[in-house]
Amino acid sequence: MKYFLDSAKIDEIDKAYNCYRIDGVTTNPKHIMNSGKEFLVAIRDIAKWIKENHLEGKEKFPVSVEINPHLEKAEDIVAQAKEISSLCENFVIKIPCNCEGLKAANQLEQQGIRTNVTLVFSPSQAIQAGRINAMFVSPFLGWKENSGEDSYAYMAQLVNIYKEKGYKTEIIAAAVRNGKQIADMAELGCDIVTAGLSVYEDSFTHPFTDYGLKVFQNAWDNTKGN
Ligand code: E4P
Repeated sequence: MKYFLDSAKIDEIDKAYNCYRIDGVTTNPKHIMNSGKEFLVAIRDIAKWIKENHLEGKEKFPVSVEINPHLEKAEDIVAQAKEISSLCENFVIKIPCNCEGLKAANQLEQQGIRTNVTLVFSPSQAIQAGRINAMFVSPFLGWKENSGEDSYAYMAQLVNIYKEKGYKTEIIAAAVRNGKQIADMAELGCDIVTAGLSVYEDSFTHPFTDYGLKVFQNAWDNTKGN
């Protein structure tokens, strides 16, 4: 299973890449806002970071960039998607899973511009992303769980449908909030999880690791000759 970082902050991307060897990045308008930069500056800085780290290329390190969420017509979405994707070949265009969004994503995929169908909250929405051959589909877990819904059964159904139908679209379990969800998604056979840096930091940490290290340091210090 691949790990993507959900962030538009260069320091976080850099840390997650160097410490945890993340496989890609997902951004959304909230992450761009939190970077403190203008939209174009934030995504150009990510493109620059990709270059500096020799990760340029369609196959290498996908970075999902979301279109202006105010765009309502497929033709406007397509036009902006083309502009964004021309900035960096790693960019994948995130498009909301609604009627005009799906129409735009369908056209873009047919023209070779890769898409990530986002804001997905049901298996039936995800099926549509598979049918139009989107590169990624992003079903949100955290938001569903916040509203008291079960995300495990939802993801299990979705992963099974994709296997059964043979869709090529990769499933990104999005808005992942903890290590339990990461393990659950791996168990279900999900392709990718995307989460914030603190989720990875927490889930790769265990108090027994720190405790064990102290035990071993103590043993080292009390070993003859050390
Ligand atoms: C996914 O691609 C989204 O960017 C993300 O997971 C949305 O959730 P969040 O911003 O609430 O974490």
